[in-house]
Amino acid sequence: MRSGKKLIVALDIYDGSRAKEIALKIKDEIFAIKVNWPVVMANGSGIIKELSEIAPVLCDFKIADIPNTNRLITMKAKEEGAWGIISHSFTGTDSLEAVIAESKGKMKVFSVVTMSHPGYREFMEPLSERMIEASLRCGVDGFIVPGNDYSTIARVRKSAGDLLLAATGIGAQGGNAGKAVRAGADYVIVGRSIYQAESPLSAAREINMEISSEN
Ligand code: XMP
Repeated sequence: MRSGKKLIVALDIYDGSRAKEIALKIKDEIFAIKVNWPVVMANGSGIIKELSEIAPVLCDFKIADIPNTNRLITMKAKEEGAWGIISHSFTGTDSLEAVIAESKGKMKVFSVVTMSHPGYREFMEPLSERMIEASLRCGVDGFIVPGNDYSTIARVRKSAGDLLLAATGIGAQGGNAGKAVRAGADYVIVGRSIYQAESPLSAAREINMEISSEN
């Protein structure tokens, strides 16, 4: 297991000032900030740079397009100084390779091969192992794993070796941060349980206590 901070806060809010305010309050508790479309659509891609001044930023764009469009999205995230980017893998190796090539070792590329919501089982689950193998061949830096499904985390860890695993689905979706880390996750991604809390700082501290008490 890697040492260091493991908590990544997902700031899925429109209000950029509020996002920065929360990030500043909890910066000592977190490894990184994950941004998704809500905060980027409402504030523009410049919010990536602004938040990067507080902590490394992981762009959860779940890229799922043709190689050229994937490349353009990746280039923008890189220009704004993102630490990492999340891409789907079901669109095929050429699409994923475009993300990796454009990241050029400057951004970590995480591939989505499992998901934390029930609908994942409808179409993606049967293809999960093939998506893991293909992502490994392409040279991803890590995978997104479901923090509310510990056996799946352990399964992905077996295939992923030493690559990074980031678990979503903690708190609001039922997962426990400590259990996810014990199952093999390097990072836990938590959104609503932190940004909707009366005190985001206390919520983040509590999650970090969960992580250290379970290990
Ligand atoms: P909550 O509020 O549920 O936010 O703590 C979770 C954040 O993570 C994203 N998410 C996922 N991303 N695979 C992903 O790549 C997943 O299985 C997954 N589940 C949740 C979600 O969009 C939100 O930003």
